[in-house]
Amino acid sequence: MQLIYGVDMGTSNIKLYNGSTKEILNEKNVIAIKNKKEVLAAGDEAFEMFQKAPDNIQVSFPVREGVIADLKNMESLFERFFVKCNKLRTVRSGRFIIAVPTDITEVEKRAFYDVIDESNVKVKEIRVVEKPIADAIGIGIDMESSRGNMIVNIGADTTEISVISGGGIVISRIVKTGGNKLDETIVNIVKKKYNIHIGLKTAEQIKFALADAMYEEGSDEEEVCNVFGRNVITGLPSERPVSSDLIYEAIKEFLVSIVDAIKALLERTPPELTADIENAGIFLTGGSTCIKNIEQLIANETGLKINTVRTPGESVIRGIAKIISDPQYKKIPYTPREKTL
Ligand SMILES: Nc1ncnc2c1ncn2[C@@H]1O[C@H](COP(=O)(O)OP(=O)(O)OP(=O)(O)O)[C@@H](O)[C@H]1O
Ligand SMILES: [Mg+2]
Repeated sequence: MQLIYGVDMGTSNIKLYNGSTKEILNEKNVIAIKNKKEVLAAGDEAFEMFQKAPDNIQVSFPVREGVIADLKNMESLFERFFVKCNKLRTVRSGRFIIAVPTDITEVEKRAFYDVIDESNVKVKEIRVVEKPIADAIGIGIDMESSRGNMIVNIGADTTEISVISGGGIVISRIVKTGGNKLDETIVNIVKKKYNIHIGLKTAEQIKFALADAMYEEGSDEEEVCNVFGRNVITGLPSERPVSSDLIYEAIKEFLVSIVDAIKALLERTPPELTADIENAGIFLTGGSTCIKNIEQLIANETGLKINTVRTPGESVIRGIAKIISDPQYKKIPYTPREKTL
């Protein structure tokens, strides 16, 4: 049996692929620590406690803005996840392929490696794949072809825009914006307009229900959604309807920043590749591309065709799964010894 695993540690979600069971475990990348040392919960279970736990329980996200911000907690979380993805079967060691963003420093890349290397899990080998490459393989882009393709991965704290060609990355930029920004903006706007303080989880739920990238302000199609929070003046629990009009106001700026970042990278793309991108269109991945009509907005603003994928939040890990199972990709991941990490 092949004990090989794929890992994508995202800001919002951790995705682990088990090469033996061929299953993907995708949960919130959150850890709950009691009294500063005891790991109480990890993943979705820890997220349940987010913004609800008493003071002696710390619930945190060890990845911030796409990079490891808390190595120790990320290690503990990974160890728990490793056990979970093996369905509690005792597996002591494994080989790993990990995804790292391209447009970060070598030290930041190294931290992803260190999480696994320094954890209690015995490691036979760790190889690395750049996220845009894993994304491209996950989408099904031909890695042999010298045609250019643009991939836009809109995640939780980062938007990674990359152009790949001939199996390599021509250009890749990370913009530090994503779904988390929207949740924060929704919290702020609900507080400002209605004097109600809501939590980030509630904000995310409103976003799922009401965010629409092509919403027309003042439209008849306005939808509403009841939110619960605390009234900042009375301090009492409060409930009121929030409309898609207000949510559009909250997400407008974010949408402009994404479109601007895509346009900026298109401007910096070599002209021969621009022609290819015009033919093939842009590929959208990452959980935040689930925002309603975002593909339509980007198509209108860039004049390019947009390709979307099924379960966009998992396209990087699906790419790693393909690398693991299909020998044609075996040379793609590199070990840090061959290339400095
Ligand atoms: N239906 C949906 N509508 C809007 N946003 C969504 C939807 N589903 C998921 N998201 C958002 O997608 C984000 C998570 O996506 P993803 O798993 O790609 O991020 P990540 O890999 O953890 O983050 P990053 O790549 O920035 O480190 C969250 O902000 C989440 O709220
Ligand atoms: Mg991601």
